[in-house]
Formats: sequence, structure tokens, C-alpha cells
Amino acid sequence: MKYFFLTLIALAILVVGLFGFRGDKFSSAPIEVFPDMDHQDKVKAQTASTFFADGMGSRRPVLGTVPKNADSGVMPLEFGVGRAGYYFDGKLDGSFGNGMPKELALKEESDSIGLLARGKDMFNVHCAICHGESGDGKGVVAAYFAKADPIITVPSLLTALPATHPDGLVYDVITNGKGSMGAYKHNIPVRDRWAIVAYLRALQASAK
Ligand code: HEC
Repeated sequence: MKYFFLTLIALAILVVGLFGFRGDKFSSAPIEVFPDMDHQDKVKAQTASTFFADGMGSRRPVLGTVPKNADSGVMPLEFGVGRAGYYFDGKLDGSFGNGMPKELALKEESDSIGLLARGKDMFNVHCAICHGESGDGKGVVAAYFAKADPIITVPSLLTALPATHPDGLVYDVITNGKGSMGAYKHNIPVRDRWAIVAYLRALQASAK
């Protein structure tokens, strides 16, 4: 036992002698066995930075950024949150209406062609994964739904829809979602939602 304590004391003196006390100053850089990302090129919050022309490390959010918990007052105008009228809610005199709203300002043929092209783009970005590029309900995600949960089926937008869904109702489904389909009122601006409705009508017409 005596030798144990003697060895322990000798060992402690050796360790302190070699490595020093915490906070000691050395002339050469300490050996870092595990650097643990202690040294990185980064800006700490609220500090200055020579990287940006204005010398500030903190940046303003990109123009148009919407905070995650934004209420209607903060959503950019083009999303139309909390606004009423056919253009914003698809309703004419209380029920879903038909036809393209006048706010789209479709005067020349080229206006309609532009709207359809935009609708095609947006449909392929947002809807085709489930409803398929042709709108037949056979998108890639639909195939996974079928395996994971056969109760969820992605409907074809081509056959039954034209008779049961006026333009305003299709617009409303995009805006507020339905059943297991999510809402797009925070992702797709109002004008683009109508563009998708117009493109969907073109898909339906070409499927006849
Ligand atoms: C994640 C997959 C998914 C995406 C993406 C999706 N949908 Fe759907 N959609 C569904 C499902 C599932 C239903 C059936 C919902 C129900 O009736 O419960 C549906 C139903 C619909 C209906 C018919 C609703 C009704 O009343 O019968 C329309 C119209 C529609 N979707 C349009 C769209 C459009 C346009 C887009 C793109 C903006 C889109 N969907 C994106 C899954 C999706």
C-alpha cells in the first residue's frame, strides 16, 4: 500500500510536470489530440466581420423571407392569405365558380399561352409526383402510397373531375388541400394556383 501511494504521488508530479496546470501559459502551441472543431472560420452572432462590405457579421433575411410562424399580416401579398373574392377563394356568390378570374388579365392569346406554360411548370414541380405528369394519378409517390397504406389512393384528375369540380373548387383544393393531400396556400402564389387550374383543364381536354 505504501508503494502504491508513493507511485501515485510520483505519477501526479510527473503528469503536472509534463503537461502543466490548466490555464498555464506556454510559448509553443499546445498539442491538440482532439481539436473538436475548436477552430473554424465562422461569424459569431452580433460580431463584426471584414467579409461583408458593411463590416457587420449579422445579415438581414433575404428579401421575401417568411418567418415559419408568420401570421397573415406577414405573408407576402401574392399569397392572398385572409383575402376574399373569386381570385382569392374561388367563390362567386358563396359557391365555387367557373372561369378564369379577371385579375389574371388575360387579354391577348399570348397571355393565355404564358399562363398555361407557367401552369405546366408548376404542375410538374408540385403535383406530378403524386398525380403523374399527365394527371392520371400514377405519380411516383402514388406507387409508394399503394405499398405503404393502400387506403390512400391518388385520384386521376382527368376523367371524373371536370364534371364534379368547377375551376373554383380545383383552386380551393390546391389552396386548402383535401384529405391526405396537403394545402399549397403557403407554397404557391395565387396566380400560379390559377395557372395550374388552367393547365389541368388543358390536360383534361387532351385526355378526351
Ligand atoms: C402528396 C401527394 C399529392 C400531391 C403532391 C398533390 N396531391 Fe392532389 N390529391 C392527393 C390525394 C391523396 C388526393 C385524394 C384526397 C382525398 O379525396 O382524400 C388528391 C386529390 C386531388 C384533387 C381532387 C379532390 C377532390 O375533391 O376529389 C385535386 C383536384 C387535386 N388533388 C389536385 C392537385 C394539384 C393541382 C396538385 C398540385 C398543386 C396536387 N393535387 C398535389 C395527393 C396529392
